[in-house]
Amino acid sequence: GIKIATIGGGSSYTPELVEGFIKRYDELPISELWLVDIEAGREKLEIVGDLAKRMIKKAGLPINVHLTLDRRAALKDADFVTTQFRVGLLDARAKDERIPLKYGVLGQETNGPGGLFKGLRTIPVILDICREMEELCPDAWLINFTNPAGMVTEAVLRYSNIKKVVGLCNVPIGMEMGVARLLDVDHSRVRITFAGLNHMVYGLDIFLDGVSVKDKVIDLITNPDNAITVENVPALEWEPEFLKALNALPCSYHHYYYKRSDMVEKELKNAKELGTRAEVVKKLEAELFELYKDPNLDVKPPQLEKRGGAYYSDAAVRLIHSIYTDKKDIQPVNTINNGAIAGIPADSAVEVSCIITKDGPKPIAIGELPVAVQGLVGQIKSFERVAAEAAVTGDYNTALLAMTINPLVANDRVGKLILDEMLEAHKEHLPQF
Ligand code: NAD
Ligand code: G6P
Ligand code: MN
Repeated sequence: GIKIATIGGGSSYTPELVEGFIKRYDELPISELWLVDIEAGREKLEIVGDLAKRMIKKAGLPINVHLTLDRRAALKDADFVTTQFRVGLLDARAKDERIPLKYGVLGQETNGPGGLFKGLRTIPVILDICREMEELCPDAWLINFTNPAGMVTEAVLRYSNIKKVVGLCNVPIGMEMGVARLLDVDHSRVRITFAGLNHMVYGLDIFLDGVSVKDKVIDLITNPDNAITVENVPALEWEPEFLKALNALPCSYHHYYYKRSDMVEKELKNAKELGTRAEVVKKLEAELFELYKDPNLDVKPPQLEKRGGAYYSDAAVRLIHSIYTDKKDIQPVNTINNGAIAGIPADSAVEVSCIITKDGPKPIAIGELPVAVQGLVGQIKSFERVAAEAAVTGDYNTALLAMTINPLVANDRVGKLILDEMLEAHKEHLPQF
């Protein structure tokens, strides 16, 4: 049977992962599921782990669930390692979101200074995991969900010896499901050609049963009632003429770049009235864990869909399934570019539609991105690379460079103020600085 090790197993998303494994058990016979967490996550791990065991028992499947704080034991001989951890927990995320707002800059967990600092905290941990994988499960696939997923994948490709790595996000699959909903057809009939970077991905073309329906879909989404959104990003209305000129399907995160000042205002207002997203999520998570504790609950509760990452585990399980069975279907993932997108380094991570084989994702060649988006995508890739370098070296000047070249900051003086305050606030989780 297959052994899966899930790092950050105490995450509230785990029941969705387990549901996915149960649904596909016939073709993906998992015998061992090891959920790993740290001392701070012990209680969550136990609650969610018990729910996982009840779900598997109800399904009557021979999947052994292990709950552990011993990462090495979990990694030993694993076939797939999935990562969904949060260094510094939600308190660190709240700081990522609040501190930049004081300076009129967006705080967010994957974009801008928040994304930079989440990367600085996460990359040393993921590189430790990579070193342990080399020793304990050298043939395993690393399926990384930990944000900032694009920057983390970039760091693994550049600074570890692990080649079998795939970065995963729920945004592309959510865009496809959103289009299917708008067209009122089954998800399986819709295919979007994705290209770009994580949280900077565009749907370059959209097909229904193989026929392009891009113009129709773009026309539909010019109506704000039809916006395709994720729970964690406020969706302000697009100018219809802008969408038509862009001539591609933007993702939710593009709001931060193409409506920067409006989004700063919106997030400031939200922070005041509702709390930042981390503060909202703390409440959602507490509610979810109350439900998970119920010994009679043995399915994934629908409340999980209030989290931004809804359906991520569908994406993770179908990816593992296609690698395991050499299925050769098409899925959007973060992988090494290898020339698929012209103008982005061959050895960098991109988020792109891929054919999923037993040897991993094979990107579908895109060629050049539309001229209007080449610059921004290139800039974000530069940001991810410089940020990953700062995370590895712990070099202050490199961190300031990453901060300043981020288009949501774009100011070295303000960048330095934010950097200094955040380095101090997060110092417990930044041993490299
Ligand atoms: P969470 O706050 O519930 O954290 C998950 C678990 O990680 C916690 O139980 C925590 O104790 C544990 N953890 C913290 N540090 C750890 C370490 N060093 N080793 C092992 N475990 C550790 O987080 P969540 O909201 O479930 O999100 C998990 C991760 O997934 C985050 O990084 C988040 O940004 C990411 N995420 C990604 C996407 C995507 O599209 N790629 C979507 C949603 C969430
Ligand atoms: C999304 C993304 C994730 C993001 C998450 C946040 O839509 O794809 O990468 O970080 O959901 O969700 P949350 O519920 O934690 O705010
Ligand atoms: Mn994502």
